[in-house]
Amino acid sequence: MESAEIRRRWLRFFEERGHTVVPSASLIADDPTLLLVPAGMVPFKPYFLGEVKPPFKRATSVQKCVRTPDIEEVGKTTRHGTFFQMCGNFSFGDYFKEGAITYAWELLTSSVADGGFGLEPEKLWITVYEDDDEAEQIWREKIGVPAERIQRLGMGPNFWSMGVPGPCGPCSEINYDRGPEFGEEGGPAVNDERYVEIWNLVFMQYERGEGTGKEDFPILGDLPAKNIDTGLGLERLAMILQGVQNMYETDNLRVVIDKATELSGVAYGAAHASDVSLRVVADHMRTSVMLIGDGVSPGNEGRGYVLRRIMRRAIRNMRLLGANQPVVADLVDVVINSMGQQYPELIEDRKRIETVALAEEAAFLKTLKAGTNILDTAVSETKASGGKVLPGDKAFLLHDTWGFPIDLTLEMAFEQGLSVDEEGFRRLMKEQRDRAKADAMVKKSGHADLSAYRAVADAAGTTEFTGYTHNEGEATVVGLLVDGVPSPAANEGDEVEVILDRTPFYAEGGGQLADTGRIRIDTGAVIEVRDVQQPVPGVTVHKGVVQVGEVTVGSGALAQIDLVRRRSIARAHSATHLTHQALRDALGPTAAQAGSENSPGRFRFDFGSPTAVPGTVLTDVEQKINEVLARELDVTAEVLPIAEAKKQGAIAEFGEKYGDRVRVVTIGDYSKELCGGTHVGNTAQLGLVKLLGESSIGSGVRRVEALVGVDAYNFLAREHTIVSQLTDLVKGRPEELPDKISGVLAKLKDAEKEIERFRADKVLQAAAGLAAGAQDVKGVALVTGTVPEGTGGDDLRKLVLDVRQRITGGRPAVVALFTVTNGRPLTVVATNEAARERGIKAGELVRTAAKTLGGGGGGKDDVAQGGGQNPAAVGEAIGAVQRLVAEKA
Ligand code: ALA
Repeated sequence: MESAEIRRRWLRFFEERGHTVVPSASLIADDPTLLLVPAGMVPFKPYFLGEVKPPFKRATSVQKCVRTPDIEEVGKTTRHGTFFQMCGNFSFGDYFKEGAITYAWELLTSSVADGGFGLEPEKLWITVYEDDDEAEQIWREKIGVPAERIQRLGMGPNFWSMGVPGPCGPCSEINYDRGPEFGEEGGPAVNDERYVEIWNLVFMQYERGEGTGKEDFPILGDLPAKNIDTGLGLERLAMILQGVQNMYETDNLRVVIDKATELSGVAYGAAHASDVSLRVVADHMRTSVMLIGDGVSPGNEGRGYVLRRIMRRAIRNMRLLGANQPVVADLVDVVINSMGQQYPELIEDRKRIETVALAEEAAFLKTLKAGTNILDTAVSETKASGGKVLPGDKAFLLHDTWGFPIDLTLEMAFEQGLSVDEEGFRRLMKEQRDRAKADAMVKKSGHADLSAYRAVADAAGTTEFTGYTHNEGEATVVGLLVDGVPSPAANEGDEVEVILDRTPFYAEGGGQLADTGRIRIDTGAVIEVRDVQQPVPGVTVHKGVVQVGEVTVGSGALAQIDLVRRRSIARAHSATHLTHQALRDALGPTAAQAGSENSPGRFRFDFGSPTAVPGTVLTDVEQKINEVLARELDVTAEVLPIAEAKKQGAIAEFGEKYGDRVRVVTIGDYSKELCGGTHVGNTAQLGLVKLLGESSIGSGVRRVEALVGVDAYNFLAREHTIVSQLTDLVKGRPEELPDKISGVLAKLKDAEKEIERFRADKVLQAAAGLAAGAQDVKGVALVTGTVPEGTGGDDLRKLVLDVRQRITGGRPAVVALFTVTNGRPLTVVATNEAARERGIKAGELVRTAAKTLGGGGGGKDDVAQGGGQNPAAVGEAIGAVQRLVAEKA
């Protein structure tokens, strides 16, 4: 059975049983605690936690997932993949253990003709959590699984959470016995290769707190309802139903292995090591395509780094297989053809995906070259100091700056006889990751523990937003935090977070910055609001300082936004929609929004484009926007069922949350987008939009930045003033400026060259004098000295070589000259053959000199160069060279 058919059957089975089919969410998790979606339940997390009321009681999905903690296992075991599809069925306070178990058994064991997967019941083994008598009883009595095929296991395998605070619960897993050729018997408790887990049924009923690992965390309490979350690995079931040995040989991946074989000339099955490489390539290339498809660009942090690491491992493995030519284009192509059946958007997006992937391949091949040099230097330094272990900070530098995956560093260092301080490397990586995570948390919530906000929502409900129609409004203080801690009251000077039952303040979101303003308490207290966030959905938190008076929970208040700022942001936001539409009109649908920020008077808009947008196109886009806004189009918003919004052609933002009703913002006949932001009433209010330019912010993603209204006018007025100053200076009309200025620049360049020639001549003229002044050190002609400050390294080298060739007659010659450039001492040393025959080496002399100068350097025996930090030590360095020559001569 093909993978696509497994997916269809899954969804049909649960749809027929009252489940709403929910499309896979983007791999980019809309959750600050996660980089990428690791499980099918992620998009439903707010429903499990009771933060958002679920629009359905039952749902089913086939969710794209990426997990990388076991990346080293990929290709070596039969079932570890970085990308996989998790088939899930979910119940939100509807059916529980018995329902989930009954459905699972029915779907797995009913015949293929009846829409099931036709697995033999005798091959299925069950595990349950150690104290879950209820689940075991259902399996035995209701389903009829014999007791010897049911095993009880502890928390590690049979208690599931996302690894972070959130919903969790005991689980029961269904495992398939692949037969004696896969090892000893005894069930999944003994052998998880033979009895492979296919389906995990999680009885989601608790909320967990902070902790480590799979077992060490507190249970905070019950969830509002008892839920079901299940996950069946589509690839694992495909492996069984397709009768293949491992997940890499299933239909969607086998084609990639075949292509890699074709490109490398190494047959699958030829040897264990090359098979592992082929499987890594298949898995990683597919993951790369799926990530790029969902808008991830290779980078050095976060998701970008996950993608970069995976892609680079794939390319590196192709090179290990002997394919040194570019391979990514062909591999991406077969992945898209194969996965495109289930994910047609990949086919539509082929061009962009290819462009991003190819750019990363080109960058990596370049990096590989540059990084190899750095690595070689680090290896020689380590060896020179007698070490056998490459320091962790070098591995980290290679990783951070040159994108070298650690395994690449390990492998390349090993080839040169060194190991790597992996622990040091991992410590530095962890520090970096923790910093990034902490930053992200603090930015979103200002406070990593969200329970305080949730408690307010439980007691007082979510915040009503009145800001679409009102700039101020009366409200009640329903929650108060002082320095992040819930408090009944706050006093003058306190940093507070205030939660109101209703508010006109817009919380930062959807690319729009927060409102600022004031909250006036009935008692006379005033809070200046500097930022507004929604750390948990629906709870608006006003952050600021109590200016005067005392604030208590329960007080009445008047919330007032800063109207000038709000209007200015609204102008920017409406201008962003116009820009989005105009770019799509000019570049096609690939110019989809990848991010934006609307701030007072300016905005930036990120969009997909495989290449730079030419200046002329940008000028046209800008003109179009300004023409549209002068048409005085009304800007309106309405809340519609999502299907209706889509029917009307509203542009949906990437990774839009679920919800059956959405807000649609319409600008006349020109633009229609799903958007929760605040806008102007009519485009005429924008006045003017000025695009400042366009740049790359990652492969395949471009950014335009722009000014709106008075800010745009001020910018143009300033440019106008500059042009006037320039026309005065060069005495020409504005349109003559480019020609006149390039003329001046060309003349300047000629003059600089001329000066450079004079200077070089002058330096060389010194050569004769220096050669004549050679000292005789035991028969060796030694020239030492300093040349005027500012002589560059190249000139110094020329001079040294010139002096050396002036010492003739077969005499051994050593020339060591010094100078100071940009405040740093520099030296070049040269020896002739006769000197080298006496064992005098330029490299050694430079090392001695550079050490005195407080620096380093090196080179060959004939010419070498070095430098240091301390210009005052030049005299001493000359002395050191003289002594060493005397010693050797
Ligand atoms: N959420 C469960 C898992 O990922 C089903 O295994």
